[in-house]
Amino acid sequence: MKEGLFPYIFDVEEFITGSVLGGSAVKRLSAMQAYFSDKDAVQKILADGDPILYEYWEKENTASSRDISFGLTKVFPGKVGPEFYMTRGHYHGDDSVEVYYTLSGHGRLLLMNREGQVMDYEMQKGVVNYIPKDWAHRTVNIGNEPLIFIWFYPSVTVHDYETIEKYGFATVVSTENGFKVKSDVSRG
Ligand code: F6R
Ligand code: ZN
Repeated sequence: MKEGLFPYIFDVEEFITGSVLGGSAVKRLSAMQAYFSDKDAVQKILADGDPILYEYWEKENTASSRDISFGLTKVFPGKVGPEFYMTRGHYHGDDSVEVYYTLSGHGRLLLMNREGQVMDYEMQKGVVNYIPKDWAHRTVNIGNEPLIFIWFYPSVTVHDYETIEKYGFATVVSTENGFKVKSDVSRG
């Protein structure tokens, strides 16, 4: 019987130490090159190494239609050219919604609907972000510390990365006064 069928309790720190049973992923710049627009900056950074942009951990679940998947994402601070480190971003290819809850750090949540309308929201300790169905979502670390948030979505959710790989999304770039959102939806 899968562990997810029993009640359990753990500290969110246990995601980061890897002691929570489930899946995890590490995303390095080499695998994220296509998402950044300053290709010279990408090559320059890669010549010196291959930094981790973000990692995430997911609690094992039963994948039944009534189950909820949850986990933790850590986006490291940094930039590629003017663009801050960010996640790939995706749509849920079904009606699934998602909730993010930020534990620490400073970020922006970028959302884009099927018409290409982009919105961005604050992410900082204590903020809950609700992501309705059909809004693509990407998280960007605009601070100097890791951006850490936990998330919850229906376990049956289908993740669609292809639409964004094909049509683009938006990024956050640093400016003299802080940051601004730059949409690249037409790209591709
Ligand atoms: C799941 C979700 C998050 C992200 C994670 C990594 O639906 O939105 O758990 O999967 O923050 O981002 P992506 O998946 O866009 O690389
Ligand atoms: Zn999602």
